[in-house]
Amino acid sequence: MESKIIEEAQQYVKETLSGEGSGHDWWHIYRVYKLAITIAEKEGADRFICSMAALLHDIADEKLNSSEEAGMQKVSSWLSDHKITATDKIHILEIISSMSFKGGNSQGMQTIEGKVVQDADRLDAIGAIGIARAFTYSGHIGQLIYDPEIHVRSQMTKDEYRNGPSTAINHFYEKLLTLKGRMNTEHGKKLAEARHQLMETYLDEFFHEWEGIK
Ligand code: ADP
Ligand code: NI
Repeated sequence: MESKIIEEAQQYVKETLSGEGSGHDWWHIYRVYKLAITIAEKEGADRFICSMAALLHDIADEKLNSSEEAGMQKVSSWLSDHKITATDKIHILEIISSMSFKGGNSQGMQTIEGKVVQDADRLDAIGAIGIARAFTYSGHIGQLIYDPEIHVRSQMTKDEYRNGPSTAINHFYEKLLTLKGRMNTEHGKKLAEARHQLMETYLDEFFHEWEGIK
């Protein structure tokens, strides 16, 4: 039964996110789902809850809906149309709302399943995949890959910084290099460590090439 619901959720998400160009396409969901299962097994978290929350986590995103509430309503009705217990439904919705709302729930994720899925989503923004996503998103919104004059902006205040132009490389400093420190689970931390190291190596190489050193 559970595997049938997971399959139906996959189908639903594939259809809903087809054509999504801002980094939330089906393959992002696929990766978060697979990684959530990997982490869930290490952490002893419930596999069904993690799978469902991972699969549905971006359906409620405000970028794809008229509002966050409308997005959550969509996920809620989908869950009601499927044979999922009331407890599981509440749990899955709670994880998704903490993940999609800006900055999430102020107390952070409440359950191990929530921690696992949030780690999987954050891990997809770093490492080899994260690098690819940052450049893709950057192209999507018309940013340059890098601009040394914008890079010095990292010395500016947060507001000055936020209101000005950015670049793909800047996004590493604004966000990607901070994610390692925000992992919830032990296994998430371990995976983040390796992905973080790859980004550091990548950036070193990038700046060498930029200045024609290598
Ligand atoms: P989430 O998946 O957590 O909702 P976002 O919607 O913020 O993340 O971003 C989707 C992808 O695009 C992520 O891989 C993120 O790193 C990347 N991204 C977001 N904002 C920028 C930006 N200003 N420049 C480059 N990449 C970005
Ligand atoms: Ni996501």
